[in-house]
Amino acid sequence: MKQIDTDIVNRVNALRKALHRHNHLYYVLDNPEVSDAEYDRMMRELTALEEAWPKLYDPDSPTSRVGAPPLSEFETIAHSIPMLSLGNAFADSEIIDFDRRVRKILRTVDKILYTVEPKLDGLAVELVYENGKLIAASTRGDGINGEVITANVRTIRSVPLLLQDTGKRNIPLRLEVRGEVFISHEGFRCLNEEQLSQKLPPFANPRNAAAGSLRQLDSSITAKRPLEIFFYGVGDEFTDLELKSHWETLQTLQELGLRINPLIRPEVTIEEAVDYYKELEGKRHLLPYDIDGMVIKVDNLSLQAKLATTSRSPRWAIAYKFKAMQETTRVLNIDVQVGRTGVLTPVAHLQPVSVGGAMVKRATLHNEDEIGRKDIRIGDTVLVQRAGDVIPEVVKVIESKRTGLEKTFRMPLNCPVCGSTVIRAKGETATRCINSTCLAQLKERIKHFSSKGAFDIDGLGDKLVEQLVDKGMLASYADIFHLDEVKIQGLERMGAISAEKLVLAIEKSKNIKFSRFLYALGIRHVGEHVAKILAEEFKSLDNLLAATKEQIEAVEGVGSVIAESVVNFFKQNTNREVISRIFDSNVCILFQTHEKEKTLENKVFVLTGTLEDLTRDQAKEMIEAAGGKVSGSVSRKTDYLVAGSSPGSKLDMAKALGVEIIDQAAFLKMLSLPKPQ
Ligand code: IVH
Repeated sequence: MKQIDTDIVNRVNALRKALHRHNHLYYVLDNPEVSDAEYDRMMRELTALEEAWPKLYDPDSPTSRVGAPPLSEFETIAHSIPMLSLGNAFADSEIIDFDRRVRKILRTVDKILYTVEPKLDGLAVELVYENGKLIAASTRGDGINGEVITANVRTIRSVPLLLQDTGKRNIPLRLEVRGEVFISHEGFRCLNEEQLSQKLPPFANPRNAAAGSLRQLDSSITAKRPLEIFFYGVGDEFTDLELKSHWETLQTLQELGLRINPLIRPEVTIEEAVDYYKELEGKRHLLPYDIDGMVIKVDNLSLQAKLATTSRSPRWAIAYKFKAMQETTRVLNIDVQVGRTGVLTPVAHLQPVSVGGAMVKRATLHNEDEIGRKDIRIGDTVLVQRAGDVIPEVVKVIESKRTGLEKTFRMPLNCPVCGSTVIRAKGETATRCINSTCLAQLKERIKHFSSKGAFDIDGLGDKLVEQLVDKGMLASYADIFHLDEVKIQGLERMGAISAEKLVLAIEKSKNIKFSRFLYALGIRHVGEHVAKILAEEFKSLDNLLAATKEQIEAVEGVGSVIAESVVNFFKQNTNREVISRIFDSNVCILFQTHEKEKTLENKVFVLTGTLEDLTRDQAKEMIEAAGGKVSGSVSRKTDYLVAGSSPGSKLDMAKALGVEIIDQAAFLKMLSLPKPQ
């Protein structure tokens, strides 16, 4: 038998330890220390060693997230403490009643402190750790008995297979933790793309996708699904943690490596809870995942025990639900919009309906195939949905409401804006107008050019771009820099002040980073991410112009489709002319900061609230240019929280963790920069 060299054992152990740590930094603290490439290299090395030396198999190795052999059915297990549900409230008055009830049972007139949390729209699970190891996971089931889904839960990257040992406390003998498994909007989009490419039906919403993924008998399928988790409580525990409050429990979970939601706000009065509900409802569309309300929990655990539970739900907590994000309405008509790259998108005009507090009048139908698949006809009654900040869409047709008078929609044969013949390439779902001088495309190209991630020209909104194009004042995006202030003043809804502001904003946008410049050009397949990669690699426009397709293709993260699109774009004379006209008006591409200016090397920043003069993106760029990092959530690794007005829960987290909090002035001072003019 092959004897395993101690060097190999040591290397495997070191890699496992490092990868566990990097998983924690990446998935739980949102604060990675190594690049994705470095992480992949370590993972590959460990996989190779484990394959070569099967005796070193360890079920808790970071490589063991690919799933176990399929099951024929799930086993069930009784929860040692039932997993209850929550009572619901839909109005402020019901929350005030809840607080009154709590104080009545506790026979107190004193203010009660609550911890409030976003109510995540996923599935409840319970995980059991024994001596720091994940040994079981189950669904909520009927609350008493759940289904055993251990192999599936083990594939979720943000679930630690081993608890984090900080050395500060004993690892619990046994700990049952509860949390919500969900899929983010981005994960949902990718998953549905994948489903469609494999000719499988797409999921209706992220929650269904999460449910379908978690209840897979074959965990190797679950392993390919973008599931995530946030933990929000404990079941039974055999620990010496001596927890006194719910907030303390949550912080302990975070320390053990169990990810908690960054928007949790601890220790608030009932009035503050109601205010926070409004804030969360306003922010809801900006979050990268679905939440359907806010959970209000009495913070003090001994008060929780006194309040106890009914057979269905605890008396110490309540869910304050948001307005529904789905509604039914009628499709009045279907028309077609032409986008920046000439793609024709069918859009449903709906009987206006309030969905989740916002009026919805239109919904995207994506493309011809999607309309066919859902069989959406003019006159149909449909279920519409808003998810996150995306454009509303039609989920399905309510077939029982059909009268027989509905009309089938056909994609037009000509561009509705310029009239040229449209084309649908073989194997593509998109129908396109290929006339590059089509005014619809021009308008969209200019909107993209001035958008946030590109030239970021404040005041050059969609309506204004449309007017400027229609009036013949913009025939390409280069014309933006030649706009005449006097002529702008004469436009609809424009006065001398807004015209002056716009000219100033255009002037300000002229100093631009290379990556933003590249993104602004609107080259097909060059989104913000690819633009950053190209800018990083080629450093200047001249270098990129001189590069061959092969050289571009050789860059990591850039495929042949992108490379071809870039080369084709710069080959076209019209594009070269527009670019040279941009430079005629003193547009200047900023270069990377030099090494010696990296004053914030390795410092981790978190941004929150609105800064006086800087947008979040600008502050982020400045930090990164000076060698610092920006993280999305506050953790012990955070060096500074830059807080503007209306800072939100990150400020609470920073205070709780003793992170240094600075304002814009202090931040600029740190970079030795004056206040922007
Ligand atoms: S606490 C006994 N906190 O809501 C109360 N639940 O209707 C236990 N949920 O089954 C639940 N986010 O799936 C709690 N921050 C949160 C939550 C949350 C989502 C779900 C959970 C539970 C359901 C209760």
